Amino acid sequence: MEIIIQPDAAQSARLVAAFIARAMRRKPDLVLGLATGSTPVPLYRELIRRHREDGLDFSRVTAFNLDEYLGIGPDHPGSYRRFMQVQLFDHINLSPGHTHLPDGLAPDVEAHCRHYEAQIRASGGIDIQVLGIGSDGHIGFNEPSSSLASRTRTKTLTSRTRRDNARFFENPADVPVECITMGIGTIMESRICLLLAAGERKAEAVAGALEGPITAMNPASALQLHPDTRVFLDEAAAGKLKMRAYYDEVFARDVFWNKLRQEDGRTL
Ligand code: F6R
Repeated sequence: MEIIIQPDAAQSARLVAAFIARAMRRKPDLVLGLATGSTPVPLYRELIRRHREDGLDFSRVTAFNLDEYLGIGPDHPGSYRRFMQVQLFDHINLSPGHTHLPDGLAPDVEAHCRHYEAQIRASGGIDIQVLGIGSDGHIGFNEPSSSLASRTRTKTLTSRTRRDNARFFENPADVPVECITMGIGTIMESRICLLLAAGERKAEAVAGALEGPITAMNPASALQLHPDTRVFLDEAAAGKLKMRAYYDEVFARDVFWNKLRQEDGRTL
């Protein structure tokens, strides 16, 4: 794992956007895995800015989101489909037919989950998966105790996650109890994982995921077994890491990032 600590989330977002833009230049039909929640919002703003100012072209890109609440439709203001439309899809030239989220109203949920997996496979697999992390260590909505080999399926959200996400709903009691999420096994098949975290609230889960044992009690710790995961933290989210000085040294010496900074021609 490569652990990149930046002064704030805005700087992480600029680096991650530069990374994704480079990948899109090399592979215009890139398959992107996307996340919702507060964490990726600065990244999506940056991608929109690059689309508007630099002509970053999403026309051949395909996107698969990690998860969706069960029991609410795409037009519900708290749905992840709605979130993605407002935060990203409505502002870039990603073809609507190329955007995929699980359907929270699917009549046969099991068949729908199998179909979602099949669609990912048919697209050639996810090239770059963007991930946030829950304060309990979840990735996607794979709550603690999720099988590290799980596939897309329904999950019951913990009361902690429902509390954390209550801000997206008018009434905390409206946060659905169940969801459909890509499994940890699904996420692990992505060629590259980019895990983003910001804020002190994430520091414990981040330290457990990166420096603790691999355990279903911290689902993000499964990424220790992923061959190409890059983790972008702000100072607060990195606050409980023991090997901080080492991560900073590795990043400072990293030829790839130094070259990307030059190539990109922006202040990263
Ligand atoms: C959302 C998702 C979740 C979030 C996590 C962090 O699609 O998969 O794992 O990334 O709950 O949420 P925020 O960013 O709101 O703190």
